[in-house]
Amino acid sequence: MRETLEFIKSKINDFKPELAIVLGSGLGAFCEGLEGIAIPYSQIKGFAPSTVKGHKGELLFCEVEGKNCVIMQGRFHYYEGHSLAQTTLPIKVFKKLGVEKLILTNAAGSLKKELTPSSIMLICDHINFMGSNPLIGENDETLGTRFPEMNEVYSKRLRDIVKNCAQKLNIELKEGVYSALTGPSYETPAEVKMLSLLGADATGMSTVPEAIVGKYCSMEVLGVSLITNYAAGLSDIAPNHKEVVEMGKIAGEKLVELLKESIKLF
Ligand code: HPA
Repeated sequence: MRETLEFIKSKINDFKPELAIVLGSGLGAFCEGLEGIAIPYSQIKGFAPSTVKGHKGELLFCEVEGKNCVIMQGRFHYYEGHSLAQTTLPIKVFKKLGVEKLILTNAAGSLKKELTPSSIMLICDHINFMGSNPLIGENDETLGTRFPEMNEVYSKRLRDIVKNCAQKLNIELKEGVYSALTGPSYETPAEVKMLSLLGADATGMSTVPEAIVGKYCSMEVLGVSLITNYAAGLSDIAPNHKEVVEMGKIAGEKLVELLKESIKLF
């Protein structure tokens, strides 16, 4: 991590980000019109290249609505073959750069009929079904404690700000529990039924490891899912990545508007 940190510091001069934003599938539009210092992941030691279509694979240091931000245009996933520690390395680096607030976005499948595709869902809690934890391994006491509590991973303060902004902008906002499985295969209809019975509203293959590490590092975390499709068995159409990216682009616009308005008040 020290090497990664020193390399990034050498590229950004005295820029001090206070907010980190991780953009999920199809949400690249957030960066349109933003200018700053871009660093491709391929240049950053310790960062793996982003291999998923719809993910640019670049860090962007820039100002958004008056706030100094670092934006991850594309994230690392467990299913790409990285360890959970590797997928969450950027979050630890951001903490060391001084970031206090973390916005995590993703594309997710709906587990409930009433949560329709193109909805925006604030994540109020999560279920980690990845079968592992990003904090496994030696603990770095400079980042957080060995046994961090996870009572309010997703900051109520930030959620309240987003809810108020949504009302002001007339954007419909849902709230629910996000479940993360490893992927890369989508769920079976039986798994979708199980997840729903266990209290989840949406499902995906990311976000939870980053949220755990963000909370562990004492960051204020916001999680937002763009519901791109009905999960398996809830519709006649089987989930597919093309549909996920396309819906992300269509419905992503209002999420971008909502986030930019909210960031001003974070
Ligand atoms: N399942 C898992 N991950 C997803 C889905 C889904 O249906 N849609 C977008 N990401």
